[in-house]
Amino acid sequence: MPDHREFIRGIPKAELHLHIEGSLEPELMFALGKRNRVRLPYDSVEAVRQAYRFVDLQSFLDVYYNGARVLVTEQDFYDLTWAYLEKCREQNILHTEIFFDPQTHTDRGISFGTVVNGIHGALEDGGNHLGISSGLILCFLRHLSAEAAMATLDRALPFQDRIIAVGLDSSERGHPPEKFASVFDRARAEGFLTVAHAGEEGPPAYIWGALDCLQVSRIDHGIRCEEDDRLMKRLVQEQVPLTVCPLSNTALKVFGHMREHNLKRLMDAGVCTTVNSDDPAYFGGYLNENLYAITEAFELNQSEIAGLMKNAFNASFLDASKKRFFLNEVAEFENAAGAPEARQ
Ligand code: HPA
Ligand code: ZN
Repeated sequence: MPDHREFIRGIPKAELHLHIEGSLEPELMFALGKRNRVRLPYDSVEAVRQAYRFVDLQSFLDVYYNGARVLVTEQDFYDLTWAYLEKCREQNILHTEIFFDPQTHTDRGISFGTVVNGIHGALEDGGNHLGISSGLILCFLRHLSAEAAMATLDRALPFQDRIIAVGLDSSERGHPPEKFASVFDRARAEGFLTVAHAGEEGPPAYIWGALDCLQVSRIDHGIRCEEDDRLMKRLVQEQVPLTVCPLSNTALKVFGHMREHNLKRLMDAGVCTTVNSDDPAYFGGYLNENLYAITEAFELNQSEIAGLMKNAFNASFLDASKKRFFLNEVAEFENAAGAPEARQ
């Protein structure tokens, strides 16, 4: 096994862009479908994997929302989240900030509490039994109305102690950040932090909108920033973190091949980039596999890989002392891996 894979597996990691519904592996999808008597349009786990050939974001979202129908009870949301946390333990992800899409479930008649309590219960157990630190981010579906998002925010208020931030996901084109200005104003006034998907398929103007109108702390994806020099300057100057998802971008044909991905150019330009898995069950890999793919495409060295991890801890919503603790863990790992005796 090449050295870099060992280094990637071992380094302490944080993940900031993970849709929990996107971690639903076909095996669990089938098991939950059976448990809840939800019919799936596939005959086998292999047929599910065959169906995962996407041409763009929308072609993925259609399959992803269909798969989420098997999630019905609080236990289902717990099991889904627990399975992801076991992956975190396997991959040495020490801190994760995960998205959930409540409207995908409440629009099917499932209560907001069922969704949040299931996910939160697993996150709490993940902290106590696996030592994994976590945060939960509520995403509004941008293809639905601002009124529907506002109603979802209302439903979230009684659960505010369990949700650190709100975000914006789903079909990007035609749904600019400005559509949700009043929802995000209210969310910030209620004390939520904010993030938003922008510049994945949508234009750089959506990144400006997310920054200026929604006042986000991070941009999810953001890769199309490169098309706008003034925006690039701002991202570098303000060190706005981008949560980049390499395997997602190639699966959804934002880039034809990993070697064409702009992550390394963004890194070299001084943008604060982080690497994440987005919807790992659908895009062929969790965080380690994303890191293998970019390291192999761009021949990243250990200091560049460690730099991405430091960016992630720095860009997280952890408090300053926890950030310091995790950053120190990364630095210690990096130093030990670089020490001559560790190379023998
Ligand atoms: N983009 C937008 N919406 C999403 C994504 C994504 O990558 N994954 C799940 N919902
Ligand atoms: Zn995403």
